[in-house]
Amino acid sequence: MEAEHPCPFSTLFIPLFLCLLLSFSLPVHSDDAAVMELLKQGIINSDSLGWSGPDPCTWKNVKCDRSKQVQVIQIKGMNLQGTLPKELRDLPALTQLEVQQNQFTGPFPSFAGHGSILIIIAHNNRFTSFPADFFTGMTTLQSLTIGDNPFSPWTIPESIVSATSLKTFSASSANLTGKIPEVFGTMVSLGELKLAMNKLEGELPQTFARSSIQTLWLNGQQGNNKLNGTIVVLADMASLTSVWLHGNQFTGPIPDFSMVKKLQDVSFRDNQLTGIVPASFVNLPNLRTVSLTNNLLQGPRPTFGVNVDLDMKPGSNRFCTENSGGTCDGRVNDLLSVVEAFGYPKTLAEDWRGNDPCNKWKGITCTGEVAIEYVDFQNMGLSGTISPKFSLFTSMLRLVLSDNNLTGTIPSELTKLPNLELLDVSNNNLHGKIPSFINVLVITNGNPDIGKESGEPSPPGSVDGSKVGKIVGAVVGSVGVLLLVVAVGFCLLRLKQKGSGKLRSPHTVVIHPRHSGDQDAVKITVAGGNVNCGANDAFSPRRNGPVPGDIHFVEAGSMVISIQVLKNVTNNFSGANILGWGGFGTVYKGELHDGTKIAVKRMESGAVGEKGQTEFMSEISVLTKVRHRHLVALLGYCLDGKERLLVYEYMPQGTLSKRLFNWREARLKPLEWTRRLTIALDVARGVEYLHGLAHQSFIHRDLKPSNILLGDDMRAKVSDFGLVRLAPEGNFSVETRLAGTFGYLAPEYAETGRVTTKVDVYSFGVILMELITGRKALDDSQPEECLHLVTWFRRMHLIKGTFQKAIDPTIELDEEAVASISTVAELAGHCTAREPYQRPDMSHIVNVLSSLVELWKPAEPDAEDMYGIDLDLPLPQALKKWQAFEGTSPFLPKGDSAQTSIPTRPSGFAKSLTSEDGR
Ligand SMILES: *[C@@H]1O[C@H](CO)[C@@H](O)[C@H](O)[C@H]1NC(C)=O
Ligand SMILES: *[C@@H]1O[C@H](CO)[C@@H](O)[C@H](O)[C@H]1NC(C)=O
Ligand SMILES: *[C@@H]1O[C@H](CO)[C@@H](O)[C@H](O)[C@H]1NC(C)=O
Repeated sequence: MEAEHPCPFSTLFIPLFLCLLLSFSLPVHSDDAAVMELLKQGIINSDSLGWSGPDPCTWKNVKCDRSKQVQVIQIKGMNLQGTLPKELRDLPALTQLEVQQNQFTGPFPSFAGHGSILIIIAHNNRFTSFPADFFTGMTTLQSLTIGDNPFSPWTIPESIVSATSLKTFSASSANLTGKIPEVFGTMVSLGELKLAMNKLEGELPQTFARSSIQTLWLNGQQGNNKLNGTIVVLADMASLTSVWLHGNQFTGPIPDFSMVKKLQDVSFRDNQLTGIVPASFVNLPNLRTVSLTNNLLQGPRPTFGVNVDLDMKPGSNRFCTENSGGTCDGRVNDLLSVVEAFGYPKTLAEDWRGNDPCNKWKGITCTGEVAIEYVDFQNMGLSGTISPKFSLFTSMLRLVLSDNNLTGTIPSELTKLPNLELLDVSNNNLHGKIPSFINVLVITNGNPDIGKESGEPSPPGSVDGSKVGKIVGAVVGSVGVLLLVVAVGFCLLRLKQKGSGKLRSPHTVVIHPRHSGDQDAVKITVAGGNVNCGANDAFSPRRNGPVPGDIHFVEAGSMVISIQVLKNVTNNFSGANILGWGGFGTVYKGELHDGTKIAVKRMESGAVGEKGQTEFMSEISVLTKVRHRHLVALLGYCLDGKERLLVYEYMPQGTLSKRLFNWREARLKPLEWTRRLTIALDVARGVEYLHGLAHQSFIHRDLKPSNILLGDDMRAKVSDFGLVRLAPEGNFSVETRLAGTFGYLAPEYAETGRVTTKVDVYSFGVILMELITGRKALDDSQPEECLHLVTWFRRMHLIKGTFQKAIDPTIELDEEAVASISTVAELAGHCTAREPYQRPDMSHIVNVLSSLVELWKPAEPDAEDMYGIDLDLPLPQALKKWQAFEGTSPFLPKGDSAQTSIPTRPSGFAKSLTSEDGR
């Protein structure tokens, strides 16, 4: 040993002897008999084993190989108590250890580095820990079954990867924690993995896709965090025959199983799986048991083969119908096809019950009970891409996908949506070129890569959509976007008129990402939360600041409504309550405790300009006085800081434009001619009244079907009058002050901004043409020469014999109708005369139309008496009562309709209050 000293035999021998002696008591090596003796001693009730004599090879349930080394120990189900010695790993020939179903306790011995062991079965005992180094160098082990032991918490060690022969790993109810290691995917032999009833968390490892696992049991994880994420990886596990995932928190859809042909037993119950159950699953040839109860599965209820033992409790998913073989409503199918691209989000699946998306489905707003008009998926934590299938929603006016994590591009299919007005995709991760939308407000700010990948510089001189966007961005400043739309459109119209023939769609406005701090100016989406009109002082007339010596002011004070009330009734300005985008702001539906509905217009901050509160209030006080049965009544307002809110009566049947142009999508009947005539007369009377007001002659400036609202009796009222007076003055001169919408603008107004009552007459003439033809003032779907209704209409009217072709084909034409229509056509022609002085007054129009209405409805009692709110109604008092009531409980829970202390409301107020919509 020590090289420096000579080494006599005796000095060599003694240490060698000692070494040999010592080796018997060291675990490094021992003779099998000694180890077996240790095993026997560790078992308290070893008598029952019948182990006697010195040679373990003669013991019951022990087998040795030819060289007398212990090979197999099988002592299962014998109620044995005690511990297993750590020296078991010193049985070099041991291939099989079966100690299951006993009451062994203490630590389970390590077999690290053992070179022979093939099978270890130790489940259903009371082992208290599992060794961390167990798998190290364990290259021979094929089967390990250790479930149902009260191990102290442990995680599957990464070293399991060295157990390259492992076919079965079964450790259910074994107090396993942590994640399922990715290394399972590299264990090519692994066929059975049972880790049920542990405390595992996290997602399925992606490496499962490369595994040859046949049996995968991960059900019933017990911790606070169960297994989660999607189960898409199963689609690639081609060997799978049995998969139990029940009792976890898996989300997302059941994947395509067409690669997983051998699947027999599937248990997915008690998770949060969403989406349509794929046919590739339902039609698997070898299915025996399927359990799907308590998930959020959507679409039609799947019909499995008769041989399948099925657990799928009725009502425990989100199937559109519980009828086997039943089909879903087309709208449901369409919606599911678009949310598929978002991975069927859980939040939507939870909320979307039944077969009618118009029945309060999250994010979906309908009109006419059937037509999906507004899809609002703002801030829903969505990922994935925007499906081109959104183009299926032909009735959709607004699509809001802002504040999510969407990737990919904006599909060009969306440009085909005929009625789309607004596409808001701000604050996502979209990239690529923005398709060319026509007549759509597209908001894309907050997408760092949007518009990139283009690289093609636009040829000098041409004005394309994106350039327009930049102009917009540059000009915007703090001015409201809606005004800008008008302003830019106006400039473009001018360009077009000067012969820049390239511009077919003058009012495409694209708002590009901006990096300055004035996001608010660009981002039109409603924020909802941060309104701070004082709730305390809102119930009384404001007495701060200079009080003008105008009696209107004091009266107007009683029309002030607190922001808290408006927040309560609009569900905190929720997107679902949006009725429309009217001139200058967003209109929300509100509902009072008694079910009375109101329309709340929240003005864009830029739209009302720099007008001070006092000035604003005096304007509003005038508007609140303008009352006529054919004008939508302004019921009150709220203002504070930059917030300005106007409260209107609600008109339940929505806009004339919907009835006239979108009736198919809304699944409504087309309007009969007599109705159209009555509506025209209603509008004419409302406008006549506006024009005739003493001192304060009002010119509407923006008459169009989307500003004409209908009540339940289909009588019409004009909305949004007078708002132009609130627009900013000064710097922006004509353009910003120009309201109006292309197609309805009188030529002199468009060219010079000169405004007389004849501007409204012109717009009214265009509306008459629309009523006759059922076509929009500007119809992009028409060939160039028919694009502009007025021009086309005049041409059709001039050429004898062609006019009948211009009449809306849905109108039933008899002799009387033809005569009536031709009179109105004549009138429409006069109204749209080139020179203002050639156009008639509204009073003349009212005369012509009322004579026609009388012709049609000679027997009807005076409709005027039957209709409308009571104009003598003491509205301010009514509002006061209402506010006083609201004021006593400003935080009344939503939907509390059980309130009994509702003050008696004036009947007219409640009866006719309602909707607004516009562009
Ligand atoms: C898991 O370990 C914890 C902590 O040691 C223990 O309290 C619990 O009883 C164990 N659970 C099981 C099922 O053995
Ligand atoms: C899954 O659960 C873990 C906690 O175990 C959590 O951190 C993670 O966000 C969850 N993932 C999903 C997709 O819910
Ligand atoms: C958004 O998506 C990207 C790409 O899929 C991902 O890397 C990122 O973590 C996601 N962000 C959030 C907040 O989910």
